[in-house]
Amino acid sequence: MLTLLFGTAVAINMIRSFTHPMNELLNATRMIASGNLGYTISLNDKTEFGELADNFNTMSVSLKEGYTKLQEETNERKKMEQELIKSQKLESLGVLAGGIAHDFNNLLTAILGNIDIALNDLPAESEIFDYLKSAETASVRARDLTRQLLTFSRGGAPIKKTVIITDTIKSSASFALSGSNITCEFIISDLLWPVEADDGQISQVVHNLVLNAREAMPAGGVIKVRAENVTSAQMADLPFAQDRYIRVTVEDMGTGIAEQNLPMIFDPYFTTKKIGTQKGMGLGLAICYSIIRNHNGFITANSAVGEGTSFHVFLPASDKESPVEKETDEECPAEVEGRVLFMDDEEIVRNTAQGILKRLGYEVELAKDGAGAVEKYRAAQGSSRPFDVVIMDLTVPGNMGGREAIGKLREVDPGVKAILSSGYSNDPIMTNFREHGFCEMVVKPYKISELGKTLRKVITGQSCKTS
Ligand SMILES: Nc1ncnc2c1ncn2[C@@H]1O[C@H](COP(=O)(O)OP(=O)(O)OP(=O)(O)O)[C@@H](O)[C@H]1O
Ligand SMILES: [Mg+2]
Repeated sequence: MLTLLFGTAVAINMIRSFTHPMNELLNATRMIASGNLGYTISLNDKTEFGELADNFNTMSVSLKEGYTKLQEETNERKKMEQELIKSQKLESLGVLAGGIAHDFNNLLTAILGNIDIALNDLPAESEIFDYLKSAETASVRARDLTRQLLTFSRGGAPIKKTVIITDTIKSSASFALSGSNITCEFIISDLLWPVEADDGQISQVVHNLVLNAREAMPAGGVIKVRAENVTSAQMADLPFAQDRYIRVTVEDMGTGIAEQNLPMIFDPYFTTKKIGTQKGMGLGLAICYSIIRNHNGFITANSAVGEGTSFHVFLPASDKESPVEKETDEECPAEVEGRVLFMDDEEIVRNTAQGILKRLGYEVELAKDGAGAVEKYRAAQGSSRPFDVVIMDLTVPGNMGGREAIGKLREVDPGVKAILSSGYSNDPIMTNFREHGFCEMVVKPYKISELGKTLRKVITGQSCKTS
Protein backbone atom coordinates (compact mmCIF):
# COMPACT_ATOMS: atom_id res chain seq x y z
CA MET A 1 0.00 0.00 0.00
CA LEU A 2 2.77 2.38 1.01
CA THR A 3 4.64 1.47 -2.15
CA LEU A 4 1.49 2.21 -4.19
CA LEU A 5 1.07 5.64 -2.55
CA PHE A 6 4.74 6.48 -3.05
CA GLY A 7 4.50 5.36 -6.67
CA THR A 8 1.44 7.56 -7.29
CA ALA A 9 3.13 10.59 -5.70
CA VAL A 10 6.22 10.11 -7.88
CA ALA A 11 4.02 9.76 -10.96
CA ILE A 12 2.07 12.95 -10.13
CA ASN A 13 5.33 14.80 -9.54
CA MET A 14 6.70 13.57 -12.84
CA ILE A 15 3.54 14.65 -14.67
CA ARG A 16 3.69 18.10 -12.98
CA SER A 17 7.32 18.45 -13.90
CA PHE A 18 6.17 18.06 -17.53
CA THR A 19 2.97 20.07 -17.48
CA HIS A 20 4.21 23.09 -15.49
CA PRO A 21 6.98 23.99 -17.93
CA MET A 22 4.68 23.13 -20.84
CA ASN A 23 2.06 25.53 -19.46
CA GLU A 24 4.72 28.19 -18.94
CA LEU A 25 5.92 27.72 -22.51
CA LEU A 26 2.38 27.80 -23.86
CA ASN A 27 1.64 30.96 -21.88
CA ALA A 28 4.84 32.57 -23.13
CA THR A 29 4.01 31.83 -26.79
CA ARG A 30 0.52 33.29 -26.25
CA MET A 31 2.03 36.44 -24.75
CA ILE A 32 4.38 36.86 -27.69
CA ALA A 33 1.60 36.15 -30.20
CA SER A 34 -0.48 38.91 -28.58
CA GLY A 35 2.36 41.38 -29.13
CA ASN A 36 4.21 41.19 -25.82
CA LEU A 37 7.59 40.74 -27.48
CA GLY A 38 10.52 39.90 -25.23
CA TYR A 39 8.34 37.99 -22.74
CA THR A 40 10.47 35.49 -20.80
CA ILE A 41 9.76 32.39 -18.72
CA SER A 42 10.98 32.21 -15.13
CA LEU A 43 12.07 28.64 -14.68
CA ASN A 44 15.17 27.70 -12.80
CA ASP A 45 15.88 24.07 -13.26
CA LYS A 46 18.54 22.20 -15.03
CA THR A 47 16.33 19.68 -16.82
CA GLU A 48 15.83 19.56 -20.57
CA PHE A 49 12.80 21.80 -20.07
CA GLY A 50 14.99 24.22 -18.21
CA GLU A 51 17.32 24.35 -21.22
CA LEU A 52 14.34 24.66 -23.55
CA ALA A 53 13.05 27.59 -21.48
CA ASP A 54 16.50 29.25 -21.53
CA ASN A 55 16.73 28.93 -25.29
CA PHE A 56 13.18 30.15 -25.65
CA ASN A 57 13.97 33.21 -23.50
CA THR A 58 17.06 34.02 -25.58
CA MET A 59 14.98 33.79 -28.79
CA SER A 60 12.21 35.93 -27.34
CA VAL A 61 14.62 38.67 -26.24
CA SER A 62 16.42 38.76 -29.59
CA LEU A 63 13.06 38.81 -31.36
CA LYS A 64 12.19 41.94 -29.43
CA GLU A 65 15.58 43.55 -30.11
CA GLY A 66 15.27 42.71 -33.80
CA TYR A 67 11.78 44.15 -33.97
CA THR A 68 12.83 47.39 -32.22
CA LYS A 69 15.77 47.75 -34.59
CA LEU A 70 13.55 47.15 -37.60
CA GLN A 71 11.12 49.77 -36.34
CA GLU A 72 13.94 52.29 -35.87
CA GLU A 73 15.27 51.57 -39.34
CA THR A 74 11.82 51.91 -40.88
CA ASN A 75 11.29 55.26 -39.15
CA GLU A 76 14.73 56.42 -40.27
CA ARG A 77 13.97 55.37 -43.85
CA LYS A 78 10.62 57.17 -43.79
CA LYS A 79 12.38 60.31 -42.57
CA MET A 80 14.98 59.98 -45.33
CA GLU A 81 12.26 59.50 -47.92
CA GLN A 82 10.52 62.65 -46.71
CA GLU A 83 13.83 64.55 -46.85
CA LEU A 84 14.37 63.27 -50.38
CA ILE A 85 10.91 64.39 -51.48
CA LYS A 86 11.61 67.80 -49.94
CA SER A 87 14.95 68.01 -51.77
CA GLN A 88 13.32 67.00 -55.04
CA LYS A 89 10.67 69.68 -54.64
CA LEU A 90 13.37 72.24 -53.89
CA GLU A 91 15.30 71.08 -56.91
CA SER A 92 12.35 71.38 -59.28
CA LEU A 93 11.68 74.85 -57.97
CA GLY A 94 15.36 75.57 -58.54
CA VAL A 95 15.18 74.52 -62.16
CA LEU A 96 12.20 76.79 -62.68
CA ALA A 97 13.86 79.70 -60.90
CA GLY A 98 17.16 79.17 -62.70
CA GLY A 99 15.31 79.18 -66.01
CA ILE A 100 13.68 82.55 -65.55
CA ALA A 101 16.49 84.18 -63.62
CA HIS A 102 18.79 85.09 -66.46
CA ASP A 103 16.15 86.95 -68.47
CA PHE A 104 14.42 88.39 -65.47
CA ASN A 105 17.60 89.82 -64.04
CA ASN A 106 18.56 91.41 -67.31
CA LEU A 107 15.18 93.12 -67.49
CA LEU A 108 15.47 94.25 -63.91
CA THR A 109 18.97 95.59 -64.55
CA ALA A 110 17.52 97.81 -67.24
CA ILE A 111 14.51 98.90 -65.16
CA LEU A 112 16.46 99.62 -61.99
CA GLY A 113 19.39 101.16 -63.84
CA ASN A 114 17.22 103.58 -65.82
CA ILE A 115 15.21 104.60 -62.78
CA ASP A 116 18.49 105.23 -61.00
CA ILE A 117 19.78 107.38 -63.86
CA ALA A 118 16.55 109.37 -63.96
CA LEU A 119 16.59 109.87 -60.19
CA ASN A 120 20.13 111.15 -60.34
CA ASP A 121 19.13 113.75 -62.90
CA LEU A 122 16.02 115.01 -61.10
CA PRO A 123 15.81 117.57 -58.31
CA ALA A 124 14.51 115.89 -55.13
CA GLU A 125 11.57 118.33 -54.90
CA SER A 126 10.17 117.21 -58.26
CA GLU A 127 6.83 115.38 -58.15
CA ILE A 128 8.18 112.81 -60.58
CA PHE A 129 10.97 112.07 -58.12
CA ASP A 130 8.43 110.47 -55.75
CA TYR A 131 6.89 108.36 -58.50
CA LEU A 132 10.30 107.16 -59.55
CA LYS A 133 11.28 106.43 -55.96
CA SER A 134 8.18 104.19 -55.65
CA ALA A 135 9.07 102.45 -58.89
CA GLU A 136 12.60 101.94 -57.58
CA THR A 137 11.30 100.45 -54.31
CA ALA A 138 9.08 98.05 -56.27
CA SER A 139 11.99 97.05 -58.53
CA VAL A 140 14.22 96.42 -55.55
CA ARG A 141 11.47 94.18 -54.12
CA ALA A 142 11.27 92.35 -57.44
CA ARG A 143 15.04 91.90 -57.30
CA ASP A 144 14.81 90.54 -53.77
CA LEU A 145 12.07 88.15 -54.82
CA THR A 146 14.17 86.83 -57.69
CA ARG A 147 17.07 86.38 -55.32
CA GLN A 148 14.75 84.53 -52.93
CA LEU A 149 13.73 82.14 -55.68
CA LEU A 150 17.30 81.77 -56.81
CA THR A 151 18.39 80.42 -53.47
CA PHE A 152 16.67 77.23 -54.61
CA SER A 153 18.54 76.89 -57.84
CA ARG A 154 22.12 75.78 -58.04
CA GLY A 155 22.77 79.47 -58.38
CA GLY A 156 21.81 79.93 -54.79
CA ALA A 157 25.25 78.99 -53.51
CA PRO A 158 25.99 81.45 -50.73
CA ILE A 159 28.76 83.95 -51.29
CA LYS A 160 30.32 83.64 -47.86
CA LYS A 161 32.40 86.05 -45.85
CA THR A 162 33.44 86.01 -42.22
CA VAL A 163 30.82 88.16 -40.51
CA ILE A 164 29.29 88.91 -37.15
CA ILE A 165 25.62 89.00 -38.02
CA THR A 166 24.34 91.29 -35.24
CA ASP A 167 23.58 94.25 -37.55
CA THR A 168 22.13 91.99 -40.22
CA ILE A 169 19.70 90.50 -37.69
CA LYS A 170 18.67 93.88 -36.33
CA SER A 171 18.14 95.59 -39.65
CA SER A 172 16.27 92.77 -41.37
CA ALA A 173 13.99 92.17 -38.37
CA SER A 174 13.23 95.89 -38.09
CA PHE A 175 12.57 96.08 -41.82
CA ALA A 176 10.14 93.15 -41.68
CA LEU A 177 8.22 94.88 -38.88
CA SER A 178 8.13 98.37 -40.36
CA GLY A 179 4.61 99.80 -40.31
CA SER A 180 3.31 97.13 -37.94
CA ASN A 181 1.96 97.30 -34.40
CA ILE A 182 4.60 94.88 -33.17
CA THR A 183 7.64 95.70 -31.08
CA CYS A 184 10.83 93.77 -31.41
CA GLU A 185 13.03 93.01 -28.44
CA PHE A 186 16.62 92.17 -29.32
CA ILE A 187 18.62 90.02 -26.93
CA ILE A 188 21.92 89.67 -28.74
CA SER A 189 25.20 88.65 -27.16
CA ASP A 190 27.91 91.33 -27.33
CA LEU A 191 30.46 88.63 -27.97
CA LEU A 192 28.62 86.81 -30.72
CA TRP A 193 31.02 84.57 -32.63
CA PRO A 194 31.58 85.29 -36.30
CA VAL A 195 30.20 82.91 -38.93
CA GLU A 196 31.06 82.15 -42.55
CA ALA A 197 27.90 83.45 -44.14
CA ASP A 198 26.26 85.19 -47.04
CA ASP A 199 25.00 88.32 -45.33
CA GLY A 200 22.19 88.83 -47.84
CA GLN A 201 20.92 85.29 -47.46
CA ILE A 202 21.01 85.40 -43.65
CA SER A 203 19.11 88.65 -43.78
CA GLN A 204 16.53 86.84 -45.93
CA VAL A 205 16.18 84.11 -43.31
CA VAL A 206 15.63 86.58 -40.46
CA HIS A 207 13.24 88.58 -42.62
CA ASN A 208 11.14 85.51 -43.48
CA LEU A 209 11.00 84.31 -39.87
CA VAL A 210 10.06 87.71 -38.48
CA LEU A 211 7.48 88.19 -41.23
CA ASN A 212 5.83 84.89 -40.30
CA ALA A 213 5.86 85.93 -36.64
CA ARG A 214 4.26 89.23 -37.62
CA GLU A 215 1.59 87.44 -39.66
CA ALA A 216 0.86 85.15 -36.71
CA MET A 217 0.20 88.16 -34.47
CA PRO A 218 -2.43 90.26 -36.25
CA ALA A 219 -3.38 91.99 -33.00
CA GLY A 220 0.22 93.05 -32.36
CA GLY A 221 2.51 92.22 -29.46
CA VAL A 222 6.19 91.57 -28.87
CA ILE A 223 8.61 89.47 -30.89
CA LYS A 224 11.85 88.45 -29.22
CA VAL A 225 14.89 88.01 -31.40
CA ARG A 226 17.87 86.42 -29.67
CA ALA A 227 21.35 85.55 -30.84
CA GLU A 228 23.86 83.74 -28.67
CA ASN A 229 26.83 81.40 -28.74
CA VAL A 230 26.20 77.73 -28.02
CA THR A 231 28.42 74.67 -27.84
CA SER A 232 27.71 71.05 -28.68
CA ALA A 233 28.18 70.11 -25.02
CA GLN A 234 25.21 72.33 -24.09
CA MET A 235 22.95 70.75 -26.72
CA ALA A 236 23.72 67.06 -26.77
CA ASP A 237 20.53 66.11 -28.65
CA LEU A 238 21.22 68.27 -31.71
CA PRO A 239 23.10 67.17 -34.85
CA PHE A 240 26.16 69.35 -34.30
CA ALA A 241 28.98 68.63 -36.70
CA GLN A 242 31.44 70.86 -34.83
CA ASP A 243 31.76 72.28 -31.36
CA ARG A 244 30.81 75.93 -31.67
CA TYR A 245 27.62 77.37 -33.14
CA ILE A 246 25.61 80.51 -32.92
CA ARG A 247 21.88 80.24 -32.34
CA VAL A 248 19.40 82.83 -33.60
CA THR A 249 15.91 82.54 -32.13
CA VAL A 250 12.77 84.28 -33.32
CA GLU A 251 10.05 83.93 -30.71
CA ASP A 252 6.49 85.16 -31.12
CA MET A 253 3.28 85.17 -29.07
CA GLY A 254 1.11 84.36 -32.06
CA THR A 255 -1.41 81.73 -33.09
CA GLY A 256 1.04 78.84 -32.87
CA ILE A 257 1.24 75.90 -35.28
CA ALA A 258 -1.08 72.89 -35.06
CA GLU A 259 0.82 69.75 -34.13
CA GLN A 260 -0.11 67.93 -37.34
CA ASN A 261 1.24 70.83 -39.43
CA LEU A 262 4.59 71.08 -37.68
CA PRO A 263 6.33 68.36 -39.76
CA MET A 264 5.29 70.10 -43.00
CA ILE A 265 6.11 73.75 -42.41
CA PHE A 266 9.50 73.61 -44.17
CA ASP A 267 8.03 71.94 -47.28
CA PRO A 268 7.94 74.14 -50.36
CA TYR A 269 4.37 75.36 -51.07
CA PHE A 270 3.04 74.36 -47.64
CA THR A 271 0.89 77.22 -46.42
CA THR A 272 -2.15 77.75 -44.22
CA LYS A 273 -2.52 81.30 -45.50
CA LYS A 274 -5.18 81.72 -48.13
CA ILE A 275 -4.07 83.50 -51.23
CA GLY A 276 -5.90 86.80 -51.29
CA THR A 277 -6.47 87.53 -47.64
CA GLN A 278 -2.99 86.91 -46.30
CA LYS A 279 -0.79 86.14 -49.25
CA GLY A 280 1.07 82.92 -48.72
CA MET A 281 3.05 80.95 -51.23
CA GLY A 282 4.45 78.57 -48.66
CA LEU A 283 7.99 79.46 -49.67
CA GLY A 284 9.27 81.52 -46.75
CA LEU A 285 10.36 78.65 -44.54
CA ALA A 286 11.44 76.43 -47.44
CA ILE A 287 13.82 79.24 -48.41
CA CYS A 288 15.10 79.51 -44.82
CA TYR A 289 15.66 75.75 -44.73
CA SER A 290 17.51 75.78 -48.04
CA ILE A 291 19.73 78.73 -47.08
CA ILE A 292 20.61 77.35 -43.67
CA ARG A 293 21.41 73.96 -45.17
CA ASN A 294 23.75 75.65 -47.65
CA HIS A 295 25.49 77.21 -44.65
CA ASN A 296 25.96 73.78 -43.01
CA GLY A 297 23.58 74.78 -40.27
CA PHE A 298 20.11 73.66 -39.31
CA ILE A 299 16.79 75.11 -38.30
CA THR A 300 14.24 73.84 -35.77
CA ALA A 301 10.83 74.98 -34.59
CA ASN A 302 8.67 74.46 -31.55
CA SER A 303 5.19 75.78 -31.07
CA ALA A 304 2.13 75.66 -28.84
CA VAL A 305 -1.24 76.54 -30.32
CA GLY A 306 -2.56 79.76 -28.82
CA GLU A 307 0.73 80.53 -27.09
CA GLY A 308 3.30 81.13 -29.79
CA THR A 309 6.15 79.78 -31.86
CA SER A 310 9.94 79.79 -31.67
CA PHE A 311 12.28 79.17 -34.58
CA HIS A 312 15.94 78.39 -33.86
CA VAL A 313 18.62 78.82 -36.49
CA PHE A 314 22.00 77.20 -35.80
CA LEU A 315 25.03 78.33 -37.78
CA PRO A 316 28.55 76.93 -37.37
CA ALA A 317 30.86 79.50 -35.80
CA SER A 318 33.93 80.50 -37.75
CA ASP A 319 37.45 79.96 -36.50
CA LYS A 320 38.55 83.19 -38.09
CA GLU A 321 38.55 85.77 -35.36
CA SER A 322 38.61 89.06 -37.21
CA PRO A 323 35.55 89.52 -39.36
CA VAL A 324 35.72 91.36 -42.63
CA GLU A 325 34.54 94.89 -42.10
CA LYS A 326 30.96 95.28 -43.21
CA GLU A 327 30.67 97.45 -46.28
CA THR A 328 28.56 100.55 -45.88
CA ASP A 329 25.93 101.32 -48.42
CA GLU A 330 26.73 104.99 -48.74
CA GLU A 331 26.44 106.82 -52.01
CA CYS A 332 29.75 106.60 -53.84
CA PRO A 333 30.46 109.28 -56.41
CA ALA A 334 33.19 108.54 -58.90
CA GLU A 335 36.32 110.19 -57.70
CA VAL A 336 38.42 108.31 -60.16
CA GLU A 337 38.40 108.51 -63.89
CA GLY A 338 38.97 105.76 -66.33
CA ARG A 339 38.12 103.83 -69.45
CA VAL A 340 35.72 100.96 -68.98
CA LEU A 341 35.05 98.10 -71.37
CA PHE A 342 31.61 96.64 -70.69
CA MET A 343 30.56 93.25 -72.13
CA ASP A 344 27.03 91.80 -72.03
CA ASP A 345 25.01 89.97 -74.68
CA GLU A 346 21.79 91.87 -73.95
CA GLU A 347 21.49 95.22 -75.68
CA ILE A 348 19.16 96.58 -73.03
CA VAL A 349 21.73 95.82 -70.33
CA ARG A 350 24.60 97.31 -72.35
CA ASN A 351 22.71 100.54 -72.92
CA THR A 352 21.72 100.86 -69.29
CA ALA A 353 25.24 100.16 -68.11
CA GLN A 354 26.57 102.73 -70.54
CA GLY A 355 24.18 105.31 -69.09
CA ILE A 356 25.19 104.48 -65.54
CA LEU A 357 28.93 104.46 -66.25
CA LYS A 358 28.83 107.74 -68.12
CA ARG A 359 27.04 109.36 -65.21
CA LEU A 360 29.73 108.02 -62.93
CA GLY A 361 32.21 109.89 -65.09
CA TYR A 362 33.77 106.99 -66.97
CA GLU A 363 34.49 106.63 -70.63
CA VAL A 364 32.74 103.53 -71.94
CA GLU A 365 33.18 101.03 -74.75
CA LEU A 366 30.74 98.17 -75.27
CA ALA A 367 31.16 94.57 -76.43
CA LYS A 368 28.53 91.90 -77.16
CA ASP A 369 30.56 88.87 -76.23
CA GLY A 370 33.92 87.63 -74.98
CA ALA A 371 35.59 87.57 -78.39
CA GLY A 372 34.55 91.17 -79.05
CA ALA A 373 35.83 92.24 -75.64
CA VAL A 374 39.22 90.57 -76.17
CA GLU A 375 39.56 92.18 -79.58
CA LYS A 376 38.75 95.68 -78.29
CA TYR A 377 41.02 95.24 -75.28
CA ARG A 378 43.92 94.10 -77.45
CA ALA A 379 43.47 97.00 -79.85
CA ALA A 380 43.34 99.53 -77.00
CA GLN A 381 46.34 97.95 -75.32
CA GLY A 382 48.53 98.93 -78.23
CA SER A 383 47.14 102.48 -78.29
CA SER A 384 47.73 105.46 -76.04
CA ARG A 385 44.41 104.87 -74.23
CA PRO A 386 44.21 101.35 -72.86
CA PHE A 387 41.26 100.25 -70.72
CA ASP A 388 41.48 100.64 -66.95
CA VAL A 389 38.90 98.01 -66.22
CA VAL A 390 36.72 95.41 -67.96
CA ILE A 391 33.26 94.31 -66.77
CA MET A 392 32.15 90.99 -68.25
CA ASP A 393 28.98 88.91 -68.07
CA LEU A 394 29.68 85.35 -66.90
CA THR A 395 27.69 83.52 -69.58
CA VAL A 396 26.87 84.49 -73.13
CA PRO A 397 24.60 81.84 -74.68
CA GLY A 398 26.18 80.46 -77.86
CA ASN A 399 29.29 82.66 -77.63
CA MET A 400 32.35 83.28 -75.51
CA GLY A 401 31.37 84.43 -72.00
CA GLY A 402 33.41 86.08 -69.26
CA ARG A 403 34.65 82.78 -67.91
CA GLU A 404 36.61 81.99 -71.08
CA ALA A 405 37.40 85.56 -72.03
CA ILE A 406 39.33 86.28 -68.83
CA GLY A 407 41.95 83.68 -69.78
CA LYS A 408 42.46 85.30 -73.17
CA LEU A 409 42.56 88.80 -71.66
CA ARG A 410 45.25 87.68 -69.23
CA GLU A 411 47.31 86.43 -72.16
CA VAL A 412 47.07 89.91 -73.66
CA ASP A 413 47.62 91.68 -70.33
CA PRO A 414 48.53 89.66 -67.23
CA GLY A 415 47.63 92.66 -65.06
CA VAL A 416 44.12 93.10 -66.47
CA LYS A 417 41.58 94.42 -63.95
CA ALA A 418 38.33 92.62 -64.58
CA ILE A 419 34.96 92.52 -62.83
CA LEU A 420 32.68 89.54 -63.23
CA SER A 421 28.99 90.28 -63.66
CA SER A 422 26.13 87.86 -63.41
CA GLY A 423 22.43 87.67 -62.75
CA TYR A 424 22.97 84.93 -60.26
CA SER A 425 25.76 83.01 -58.65
CA ASN A 426 24.95 79.89 -60.62
CA ASP A 427 28.51 78.78 -60.75
CA PRO A 428 31.31 78.28 -58.24
CA ILE A 429 33.19 80.90 -60.24
CA MET A 430 30.98 83.57 -58.66
CA THR A 431 32.16 82.55 -55.20
CA ASN A 432 35.76 81.96 -56.25
CA PHE A 433 36.06 84.75 -58.78
CA ARG A 434 39.56 85.74 -57.62
CA GLU A 435 40.95 82.30 -58.35
CA HIS A 436 39.68 82.71 -61.90
CA GLY A 437 41.50 86.01 -62.38
CA PHE A 438 38.75 88.52 -61.60
CA CYS A 439 39.23 91.35 -59.09
CA GLU A 440 35.59 91.68 -58.04
CA MET A 441 32.12 90.54 -58.97
CA VAL A 442 28.79 92.33 -59.19
CA VAL A 443 25.37 90.69 -59.14
CA LYS A 444 22.82 92.02 -61.60
CA PRO A 445 20.71 94.08 -61.28
CA TYR A 446 23.04 96.64 -59.74
CA LYS A 447 22.39 100.15 -58.58
CA ILE A 448 24.60 103.03 -59.64
CA SER A 449 26.07 103.33 -56.16
CA GLU A 450 26.98 99.63 -56.01
CA LEU A 451 28.62 99.57 -59.39
CA GLY A 452 30.42 102.84 -58.67
CA LYS A 453 31.85 101.56 -55.42
CA THR A 454 33.11 98.34 -56.98
CA LEU A 455 34.69 100.18 -59.91
CA ARG A 456 36.47 102.61 -57.66
CA LYS A 457 37.85 99.78 -55.55
CA VAL A 458 39.14 97.94 -58.60
CA ILE A 459 40.59 100.92 -60.44
CA THR A 460 42.42 102.20 -57.37
CA GLY A 461 43.78 98.69 -56.86
CA GLN A 462 42.17 98.21 -53.42
CA SER A 463 40.73 94.84 -54.24
CA CYS A 464 42.86 93.43 -57.01
CA LYS A 465 45.25 90.72 -55.96
CA THR A 466 45.57 88.93 -59.28
CA SER A 467 49.04 87.96 -60.29
N1 LIG B 1 5.55 82.10 -36.54
C1 LIG B 1 4.56 81.32 -37.00
N2 LIG B 1 3.40 81.21 -36.31
C2 LIG B 1 2.39 80.43 -36.78
N3 LIG B 1 2.47 79.70 -37.90
C3 LIG B 1 3.58 79.76 -38.63
C4 LIG B 1 4.70 80.58 -38.23
N4 LIG B 1 5.67 80.43 -39.12
C5 LIG B 1 5.20 79.58 -40.05
N5 LIG B 1 3.96 79.18 -39.77
C6 LIG B 1 3.14 78.21 -40.54
O1 LIG B 1 3.96 77.60 -41.52
C7 LIG B 1 3.42 77.81 -42.82
C8 LIG B 1 4.55 77.93 -43.83
O2 LIG B 1 5.27 79.13 -43.62
P1 LIG B 1 6.04 79.78 -44.84
O3 LIG B 1 6.70 81.00 -44.35
O4 LIG B 1 6.86 78.75 -45.49
O5 LIG B 1 4.88 80.13 -45.88
P2 LIG B 1 3.78 81.28 -45.80
O6 LIG B 1 4.13 82.26 -44.73
O7 LIG B 1 2.46 80.62 -45.69
O8 LIG B 1 3.90 81.93 -47.24
P3 LIG B 1 5.11 82.88 -47.77
O9 LIG B 1 6.17 82.87 -46.71
O10 LIG B 1 5.57 82.23 -49.04
O11 LIG B 1 4.49 84.21 -47.95
C9 LIG B 1 2.55 79.04 -42.68
O12 LIG B 1 1.51 79.08 -43.66
C10 LIG B 1 1.99 78.88 -41.27
O13 LIG B 1 0.93 77.97 -41.25
MG1 LIG C 1 6.06 83.10 -44.68
